Amino acid sequence: MNLITMKKPIKALITGGAGFIGSHLSEELLNRGHQVSVIDNMSTGSLTNVEQLAKDPKFQLIETTIHDEKTLDMAVKDCDVIFHLAAAVGVHLIVEDPVKVIETNILGTHSILKTANVYRKKILIASTSEIYGKGVKSPFSEYDDRVLGPTTTSRWSYAASKAVDEFLALAYYKQLNLPIVIFRLFNTVGPRQTGKYGMVLPRFVESIISGKPPQVYGNGTQTRCFCDVRDAVNAIIRLADTETAIGDVFNIGSEQEISIIQLARLVNKVLGGPTYEPELIPYDIAYSSGFEDMLKRQPDTSKIRDLTGWIPKRSLESTITDIATQIRHDSIGA
Ligand SMILES: NC(=O)c1ccc[n+]([C@@H]2O[C@H](COP(=O)([O-])OP(=O)(O)OC[C@H]3O[C@@H](n4cnc5c(N)ncnc54)[C@H](O)[C@@H]3O)[C@@H](O)[C@H]2O)c1
Repeated sequence: MNLITMKKPIKALITGGAGFIGSHLSEELLNRGHQVSVIDNMSTGSLTNVEQLAKDPKFQLIETTIHDEKTLDMAVKDCDVIFHLAAAVGVHLIVEDPVKVIETNILGTHSILKTANVYRKKILIASTSEIYGKGVKSPFSEYDDRVLGPTTTSRWSYAASKAVDEFLALAYYKQLNLPIVIFRLFNTVGPRQTGKYGMVLPRFVESIISGKPPQVYGNGTQTRCFCDVRDAVNAIIRLADTETAIGDVFNIGSEQEISIIQLARLVNKVLGGPTYEPELIPYDIAYSSGFEDMLKRQPDTSKIRDLTGWIPKRSLESTITDIATQIRHDSIGA
């Protein structure tokens, strides 16, 4: 059954819907005529992200935590499909507040799976490329081994917590036949992403707009693949609409690699103006001592492509332009 593309409007519940990706997903579902309820505690999300959406009578914002079981129960009972995106995210938060990361990601996902099972609702769960840890294979496909560091390094708690979420969701599917779909997002970028929690692209754009050199952590040769959030949202919706995706895991991301130092230079080129030589900051100064970063992280997206026909369409240059437009617009309004 095609939930989202079918003519009859549906009611979607989006946890973390006031966040970066959740707000774009909300916007796209509203544009397609559906109703959207959001549960968000505004820890890293914001009212600004959903300001425009709130004008739509089909949109409802419930400002609470996913640990609020009573509200969760009512919201799940009342919806047709759940998109679970609420999570404690961002490299800085992971290193500085590991208790929050572990509790939000594991206990929060457990609550929502339990409730989805009570009302037998389909649930799509956001996971992450961090799952692959420091595996050196490239590109990563969904069945590859995961290589994580020791539990004494907080950095790995995010990947481990998301892996527990995946195990738990798959267990609900295998044992209780709950319709779940897991999507592993690789670096997702676009307007509304904040640089506050260590996300690289908005940090670079903010620096260059304010006339400062972009700060590159490490030597900048590490590579990443950046996918526009609106392409990622399209992939999530296709998965929601594909019956055969149930009980499975999918990578979502761009396959185009770029090094972080090249990214800093590309942002500078796209934004124009004076040339700023990127400033290299050792990891030990940027984060706590012993921080490990991955040299590469490239997805193999053939699985979602073969099943749904999805391919990302937007160029990195156009995404950078859109991020800059939004940052300039927000600074005028601030
Ligand atoms: N942005 C990326 O590149 C990326 C990459 C991999 C995975 N993801 C995953 O995608 C999802 C969305 O991430 P994002 O980039 O939009 O980040 P985000 O921080 O903008 O969104 C997360 C949202 O969850 C909310 N939240 C956190 N704890 C909550 C709680 N206890 N109760 C209710 N709401 C809570 C936050 O306020 C925020 O609005 C997350 O699950 C994240 O792990 C994102």
